[in-house]
Formats: sequence, structure tokens, C-alpha cells
Amino acid sequence: MTAKTIDGKVIAAELRARVADEVARVKREHNLVPGLAVVLVGSDPASEVYVRSKHTQTQAAGMASFEHKLPADVSQADLLALVAKLNRDPAVHGILVQLPLPKGLDTEAVVNAIDPAKDVDGLHPNNAGRLAGGFEALSPCTPLGCIILTKSVHASLEGMNAIVIGRSNLVGRPLVQLLLNENATVTIAHSRSRDLPGLVRRADLVYAAVGKSEMVRGDWLKPGATVIDVGINRIPKDDGKTRLVGDVAYQEALAVAGAITPVPGGVGQMTVACLLVNTLRAACAIAGLPKPAV
Ligand code: GUN
Repeated sequence: MTAKTIDGKVIAAELRARVADEVARVKREHNLVPGLAVVLVGSDPASEVYVRSKHTQTQAAGMASFEHKLPADVSQADLLALVAKLNRDPAVHGILVQLPLPKGLDTEAVVNAIDPAKDVDGLHPNNAGRLAGGFEALSPCTPLGCIILTKSVHASLEGMNAIVIGRSNLVGRPLVQLLLNENATVTIAHSRSRDLPGLVRRADLVYAAVGKSEMVRGDWLKPGATVIDVGINRIPKDDGKTRLVGDVAYQEALAVAGAITPVPGGVGQMTVACLLVNTLRAACAIAGLPKPAV
């Protein structure tokens, strides 16, 4: 048996279309144009690609997009001053500072300076704490995308055994909280976990978010498991170019899993779509409007 491929491209496109419909509605009914500000410090090529894609997709959804590019040697004070300005700007409802920041800048201080109501990355301690407490919060985009992809296979995650491999602030930790909110039973694994294959073998839902090429092997999986691969690893090819691989050995996993996300074309597609969702939600909340339908 071959696993079903979970098509992140199609699911993300559907989500973006739903966001665009809601953006058109709030514009028509409330004269509100949700706005997203993205701050890029330095010129990391991968970050530049992400930021470009955020800009294009934000505009395509009918929202306002504000790009701020700062040199890698910008001072901490100047970066904080920009964040403060965006916090005050009524046209801006979402603020995203692209990570990682160049060396010398204090990421924690920058994240803490973002108005939690505009924190569409869900990284501010206020939002992270609310999510962990089971309260309503802006949640990080990649974990939100993982949940949507899982629900394209399973209408309910209640009582399922999930394993999250990786414990980053941006993915692993918030994903655990979202899975708990879905009533899954969650194991959190990481680089120090003992017998990782044994832990993975018990899981109905496997989330690999470690950043290690093809670390999760096919024979670790429970037959029929749903596998969500968050890894985006660039590995060199013979011709000097690179190819993208996930954290899961895809070909091996195809023969064992019930459903699996490809890399590329899986989780990556969902992150920006969920950023649009968060910006729309933040804009409605700030304007005192009811929650949007997406
Ligand atoms: N860099 C890679 N992914 C992300 C993300 O989701 N948010 C931010 N701010 N930076 C990133």
C-alpha cells in the first residue's frame, strides 16, 4: 500500500481563497483593510524568498502589505524604534519580524516589543502563555498549518496518540499545545529522547520538526500513521545545485504511512496561508469586530 499524499499546495490555496473572501467582506461591510508589516533585517537569501512570497500572497488576498528592509548592521535601538512605530500605526494589524535575526541583535527583546494584539507569529510571551493556558491566542503559523493538514485526513484528533519531534518556540512547543486543545495524547520528543524509534512506533500522528534530513525512517512508523513533515533541509546535489528534503525519509515512509506530507508542497505552503489568517483575525479583533469565518 502507498500512503495518501497530503497536498499542502491545494489545501493552502483553498485557505487563501477563504481568507480573500473574508477580507473582501470586512472591506465592504466595515471599510477595514487588514494590513501586514514584515520586517527583514539583513539579506539571508532564504529569508528574502520567504518575505517576497509573504508580500505577494498578502496583496493577492486583498490585504495591505508593508515591507521594511533594514541593513544587517542596524542597531538594536533602531529596530526597536521601527517596531514601536508599527505598533502605533493604525493601518498595520500584523507585525512579523523575520527570524533568525543577524548576530548581535537581541531576538527576545525584539519579540517582546511587538504589541501582542499584532503578534501574528504568536511568539510574544503573552500569546505563547495564553496558548499554553488553553486561552484564545494568536498562534504560530506553521503549527496551525500542521493542524489543518492533519484535519484534512482526520476530522477529529480526539484520543489519538501524537508525537512531536522537536521543541522549538516557533514549531514544536506551540504544536504540542494545539494538539492538546484537539484532545490528542501528546508525546514531546527531542534530541535527548531515549528510543525515539520506539516512541514514534506508538504514534498515530507523527510531526517531525527537527531540521535533520530524513532522520525519521520508514520502519519507525506505525502502519497507517499520518506523517506531517515540517523539515525543509537543503542538501547539495552533484551539479552544484541543492534539493529540498524533509525530516522524514519520504520514499520509505510512503510504503508504511497512511498519509504523508511531501517536501516541498506540504507544510511549507501552509505557513504563509496561516499568516494571512492570523492577520485577518488580528485586524478584526483590533477593530472590535466579530471573529471572521476563517
Ligand atoms: N523564519 C522561518 N519561519 C518563520 C516564521 O514563521 N516566522 C518568522 N518570524 N520567522 C521565520
